[in-house]
Amino acid sequence: MERELSLEIVRVTEAAALASAPWMGRGDKNEADGAATTAMRLMFDTVSIQGTVVIGEGEMDEAPMLYIGEKVGGGDGPEVDVAVDPLEGTEIVAKGLNNALSVIAIAPKGQLLHAPDMYMEKLAVGPQLRGKLSITDSPENTIAKAAEALGKSVSDLTVVVLDRERHQQLIQSLRSIGVRIKFLSDGDVVGAIAPSFPETGIDLYMGSGGAPEGVLAAAAIKCLGGELQGRLMPANDEEYKRCIEMGIADPRKVLDMDDMIGSGDVIFAATGVTPGEFLSGVRYLPDQRAETHSIVMRAKTQTIRHIRATHYMPNKSYLFRAGNMD
Ligand code: FBP
Repeated sequence: MERELSLEIVRVTEAAALASAPWMGRGDKNEADGAATTAMRLMFDTVSIQGTVVIGEGEMDEAPMLYIGEKVGGGDGPEVDVAVDPLEGTEIVAKGLNNALSVIAIAPKGQLLHAPDMYMEKLAVGPQLRGKLSITDSPENTIAKAAEALGKSVSDLTVVVLDRERHQQLIQSLRSIGVRIKFLSDGDVVGAIAPSFPETGIDLYMGSGGAPEGVLAAAAIKCLGGELQGRLMPANDEEYKRCIEMGIADPRKVLDMDDMIGSGDVIFAATGVTPGEFLSGVRYLPDQRAETHSIVMRAKTQTIRHIRATHYMPNKSYLFRAGNMD
């Protein structure tokens, strides 16, 4: 993959973020998601890739665009797998909370795990803990090993967890050993990536969230030198069968970075929609301008680019077509 693609891809996440940001706090997650998806789909046509969506808005019969198997891109350029979440944190935007993003990962064809739409148990860490922990360990052992490897006391460690009923047992274990817990209302792509950004002060991500979000986070984490281990959680026979159909021979296997992202290159881009742990949200400026903050990273070089762009809104034709502007 050419490095110029990084800047092309970030234009696509910027478009989706600008399209969904007006929906902040307005209580309608579907409108916010629809605007992001339409803008992202329109912008993809301008990118020189022959892409196939492997993680998207759903199956062909469930999603009008960016469905799994859809071809995206300008029709020239490299053949790539495309994983998208036009709006990661639909509920976050609807409620006007933190950490909503627009996200894309691309990798050479055949590299990205076709993650079925179900929960995945995840353990994510930054570079200092890479290779030191196992998702098969108890939370108590995991925390003890993490504290030792980081040279910190347990009470100085911060674990991020999605605030969900299903995490009660995990939360109880973490509380009993005295670790700090940061709860997320939604948006576990940010949660899983956060330990790879030291400035967030977060050491580990634990718990379960969407499997597609797991693969997207793993793409970012690969570029940052951290690690995500995952384990699919098929809830019934139908979900188990779905894993097999999607080519996952042992659905309960621990998935490592190579299982999810492959061993080759990957490009990851994200633009903040609402303010968050490592990205600012869309800001509206005078004179019909808006500022976006994005990161774009590539596994091969591990360069992390922060891009702040100021957009002149009347020139954004995709916003008119996505129905956002009169
Ligand atoms: P959406 O953007 O699709 O609303 O997903 C938000 C999210 O919080 C993800 O980040 C996370 O992986 C998943 O939902 C968790 O699912 P649940 O809300 O069912 O616990």
